Amino acid sequence: MTNYKDLGLVNSRELFAKALHGGYAIPAFNFNNMEQMQAIVQACVETKSPVILQVSAGARKYANQTLLRYMAQGAVEYAKELGVNVPIVLHLDHGDSFELCRSCIEYGFSSVMIDGSSHTYSQNVELTAKVVEYAHQYGVSVEGELGVLAGVEDDVIAEQHTYTQPSEVEDFVAKTGVDSLAISIGTSHGANKFKPEQCTLNAEGILVPPPLRFDILEEIEKRLPDFPIVLHGASSVPQDQVAIINKYGGALKDAIGIPEEQLRRAAKSAVCKINIDSDGRIAMTAAVREILATKPAEFDPRKYLGPARDNLKALYMHKIINVLGSANRI
Ligand code: G3H
Ligand code: 13P
Ligand code: ZN
Repeated sequence: MTNYKDLGLVNSRELFAKALHGGYAIPAFNFNNMEQMQAIVQACVETKSPVILQVSAGARKYANQTLLRYMAQGAVEYAKELGVNVPIVLHLDHGDSFELCRSCIEYGFSSVMIDGSSHTYSQNVELTAKVVEYAHQYGVSVEGELGVLAGVEDDVIAEQHTYTQPSEVEDFVAKTGVDSLAISIGTSHGANKFKPEQCTLNAEGILVPPPLRFDILEEIEKRLPDFPIVLHGASSVPQDQVAIINKYGGALKDAIGIPEEQLRRAAKSAVCKINIDSDGRIAMTAAVREILATKPAEFDPRKYLGPARDNLKALYMHKIINVLGSANRI
């Protein structure tokens, strides 16, 4: 058993309390390799932002559980070497079983999500409460979820949103003891969050998706005062990066994300964790495609993964400074 404190990590509790009262959100960036980890740490050091390093079940399988433990510890030490003591959380994204959550906690995670949102309400309560009881013995924080996001999540695909029902949130939090709650208010996973026909064209000819359901968020905030809320599926799918991917041989069609001003608004509310994965994938892919297409003789991975890392770092800095508001919050 490795306790996260021995790795220099923190749980999310104190970070969320500060974010709630400061009107900003902590970035939760998914990672599974060294370049992503370097980009995250460098961006957070330069902006002085706390961060949640987020690992899905698929990413854990890809990277290896032991390597991840040392990478997280490495992230803490790397930030210190760069001169800033960045508070770093290692979080399981979309845990789907008690066993997976327990295993992550044993390997040094400081926070886990148990996503029981595909189960019935009572099964979700039962599973989430079991994870909370185990996790809290070790000081590990737990995120639960109510409502179902449309889109692709690991191998699970949901066609439609099932918005979180505000009438359920107090009971869920009281019965499970979760530290934060992921809600469904119109975001979704992946790069194709909306179909073009769901959007309207604005004066600049840009497709504008339907707004998030801030009315549901406000109702939840009333029922759960001062309680940390989490927004998944919050990538904005930057169109300049999508254009680079498509220019250099990619085929991202109808890729539409959440407008950044909606996320900025959410970050000022009780939403204190915002999950971003797809935008990072897009930024890396754009850089790699451009290099491989424009320098076909290049075969040193550092020559395309290096620029991918730099592009990713620039994206993260932009999110931290201009969208989430978490810069200078250490
Ligand atoms: O919510 C899903 C995340 O983007 C993780 O995706 O399961 O492909 O690693 P993944
Ligand atoms: P995106 O696909 O919008 O980046 O969402 C990521 C996410 O919610 C990870 O849990
Ligand atoms: Zn998610």
